[in-house]
Amino acid sequence: MLAIIGGSGLYRLPGFESTQRQIVRTPFGDPSCPLTFGLIGGHPVVFIARHGYGHSLAPHEINYRANIWALAEQGVSGIVAVGSVGGISAGVPPGTVAVPDQIIDYTWGRAHTYFEGADIPVVHTDLTLPYDARLRARLLQAAKSAGVDAHDGGVYACTQGPRLETAAEIRRLERDGADMVGMTGMPEAALAREKGVPYACLAPVVNWAAGKGDSVASVTFDSQSQAFAAALESVGKILIAAV
Ligand code: HPA
Repeated sequence: MLAIIGGSGLYRLPGFESTQRQIVRTPFGDPSCPLTFGLIGGHPVVFIARHGYGHSLAPHEINYRANIWALAEQGVSGIVAVGSVGGISAGVPPGTVAVPDQIIDYTWGRAHTYFEGADIPVVHTDLTLPYDARLRARLLQAAKSAGVDAHDGGVYACTQGPRLETAAEIRRLERDGADMVGMTGMPEAALAREKGVPYACLAPVVNWAAGKGDSVASVTFDSQSQAFAAALESVGKILIAAV
């Protein structure tokens, strides 16, 4: 069974027939919302809305440890994390979907590991390749079969939010090698690795990052925008083909 984490704008999955909702509690507190179990094209899927229902949790308020723990407890074969991003490099304009292959963590103050506390041994988890290669390949293949042009690879910069970035911050991220910027990729990816669950990201590009594109004086991060709708439609097609 595959797990899907829905980001902003993705509170229900296209083609998803839900069969059951389950409240899960974890040693790290409560997940963003109950898990929804169901089928896509006859294949089992478990879904969680990262921000809760109705977008109530800001990126830094999300209990990433509880979310990943709850999904891992279901014995899922992998986690596909949908998270909208702003495009920094020319290859990822608004309306496209990226499948990043690297991430840089600029967040702070988030509970970001399971390996802490008095009786817990320290474990230094390898994160050289933060995304699972096979799951990434599956998403890219799914995009191909669905006729969606997904961008293969790229560096996701994860900022703290909930505010958007300054133009200078985006220029710095660009110098760091980032291609896209979002707020929820970390510590989610690292926690999935700590739990040993294959994890990959589908990143709908919903705006140009600050100072990029034509509108250099402001960023429109609007779930009603055309780019948002176009990217999410592609995400839906990829998910249906991937499952
Ligand atoms: N910055 C950070 N996170 C985002 C953006 C952005 O421009 N767009 C969507 N998520």
